[in-house]
Amino acid sequence: MAIVVTGATGTIGRALIGELGGAARAVVRRPEQGEELGCDYVVGDLERPESIPIEPGDRLFLNSSLWPGFVRAHQAVIDHAATNAAQVVTVSVRGVTSGSLLGFGMHGQVDAHLKASGVPWAILAPVGFMQNLAGDVDDEGRFFGSYGRGPVGYIDARDIAAVAAALLTRPVGADATYELTGPSAPTHDEIAAELTRALGRAVSYVDLSADDNAARLEKGGMPAQAAHDLAELMAQIGDGRWASTTTTVADILGRRPRSLREFYSLVDSASLRAATAVS
Ligand SMILES: NC(=O)c1ccc[n+]([C@@H]2O[C@H](COP(=O)([O-])OP(=O)(O)OC[C@H]3O[C@@H](n4cnc5c(N)ncnc54)[C@H](OP(=O)(O)O)[C@@H]3O)[C@@H](O)[C@H]2O)c1
Repeated sequence: MAIVVTGATGTIGRALIGELGGAARAVVRRPEQGEELGCDYVVGDLERPESIPIEPGDRLFLNSSLWPGFVRAHQAVIDHAATNAAQVVTVSVRGVTSGSLLGFGMHGQVDAHLKASGVPWAILAPVGFMQNLAGDVDDEGRFFGSYGRGPVGYIDARDIAAVAAALLTRPVGADATYELTGPSAPTHDEIAAELTRALGRAVSYVDLSADDNAARLEKGGMPAQAAHDLAELMAQIGDGRWASTTTTVADILGRRPRSLREFYSLVDSASLRAATAVS
């Protein structure tokens, strides 16, 4: 029985392959990606469900970035897996429904399909990843949002991978959604202070109304509707829906999730600076 890992070259996927060691069978789109990962692999694509190998009793980790065909492809892979897989573990977003905006709504639709599929399931529902924060800082040391003073319990994606590994290597548990957060929920001003400390240069958070933020995003090249919806999503998050933290990571792993400061202490400063817009 294999643990079949899609999205294996991604942020969560690479960490999950590391956690699983030899137990993983990665699905990659190009052979050289599999060679680079250094684990058992097959070449496949979520757009072609039949290319995802699921033998009876296999466990499937279903994850990818979002694209316009995401819902259709993920639903088809779930249908393909439902007859043989012992369990499907997937990555969604905390608190989403089919009616949520942008990618959150896509996840809501896939989650609903998985729950109705008949295959045993686990949905990992994290908030935002710590990995993305530094990349939003521009060369003037600013990052923008519409979160107001709403706190967000950002999580290290490696903690998501560790939870996935635990669930995929234990006997299949009851169907459940796991809401995953970091250990605390800083405001974006507090995150700017952590970034200032980590990057060694001043970083500030600039809060914009949803309308002003949408205009800024549109000016940066985003289509108008997407810019409006993204700014609206940030404002919704700022209303406090990601403000509470959960004990789920600690409950499953027996250790607390990484804090933002611990996260930055583990990233070397050169790659952290490279992740920002500073040239
Ligand atoms: N970023 C956040 O703050 C955040 C918060 C909550 C939830 N999430 C969710 O986390 C998920 C993304 O996880 P991640 O950050 O680990 O991913 P990621 O780093 O963006 O990597 C995406 C992975 O998906 C693969 N992929 C994309 N399209 C594919 C296709 N058609 N067939 C097969 N593989 C495909 C990519 O393969 P290639 O290398 O071949 O491109 C890559 O391995 C998304 O569902 C996102 O909504 C993200």
